Amino acid sequence: MSKASKIPVLEVKNLVKKFKDFTAVDDISFDVKEGEILGFLGPNGAGKSTTINCILGVIEPDDGKIKMFAKDISQNRSEIMKKVNYCSAEYNVAWNLKVYEALFFYCCLYEVENANARIERILDQMEANEFKNKFLRDLSFGQRARISLCKSLLNDPKLLLLDEPMASMDPDMVDKGIRLLKRIQKENKISILYTSHNMWEIEQIADKVVFVNNGKIAAQGTPLDLTRRHFLADTDEPNLREVFIKLSRSEDEHI
Ligand SMILES: Nc1ncnc2c1ncn2[C@@H]1O[C@H](COP(=O)(O)OP(=O)(O)O)[C@@H](O)[C@H]1O
Ligand SMILES: [Mg+2]
Repeated sequence: MSKASKIPVLEVKNLVKKFKDFTAVDDISFDVKEGEILGFLGPNGAGKSTTINCILGVIEPDDGKIKMFAKDISQNRSEIMKKVNYCSAEYNVAWNLKVYEALFFYCCLYEVENANARIERILDQMEANEFKNKFLRDLSFGQRARISLCKSLLNDPKLLLLDEPMASMDPDMVDKGIRLLKRIQKENKISILYTSHNMWEIEQIADKVVFVNNGKIAAQGTPLDLTRRHFLADTDEPNLREVFIKLSRSEDEHI
């Protein structure tokens, strides 16, 4: 099946979110197709996390439509959410629980069968088994981020929303995390919306990129397309760092 004919797993249409008179998300539309990894990029405050929070249903959009698995989330939320998961380096985990207890709690919440085996397997994959009996509050930021990524895989999601998931991991763990996600994405055809400020991560993982600035989509395409359009027309190497800087500064250049 060609990419173009694949089914959208996530569809965001004309999404608007305001905080009082400030428009954080201003008429954003994009989709993520089955098995696709979308890099969702933009400067601090661009509206990425607000968009993800609207998709998760944590905050109510002011306008627009969000569909997952071809169903409107406003009507089918609990059914849809069984196939979705989320991870952020900022995610507040249960500090007073040990890693294993926290993951077991989430397994109960997600109604995961064979919870013990599932937890063991995922901890092994993220090389986090050694933290199993440690309190979450005693882990470093990077170690917590690893556990948060483990948590997001417990229910075998078909759609993963990852908001700077590896922000505090060391480069070796980032590399392992990226490989793990790529493997899972291939084996289970999961779709991923992935935000990061690490352009290397995005170049490794993303099939296409949506770049937002001031709540609006400023550019979209494959990493190589965007590099050719916004940096070097005849290159064969994606360079999203240069694209990011160019697009982030393009508004200032008019001043
Ligand atoms: N709850 C809130 N109340 C008021 N303003 C908010 C709130 N959440 C986010 N914002 C503002 O919306 C804008 C977008 O924020 P956010 O989506 O977190 O950006 P990003 O994730 O791209 O860095 C920022 O200017 C931020 O200050
Ligand atoms: Mg954010």
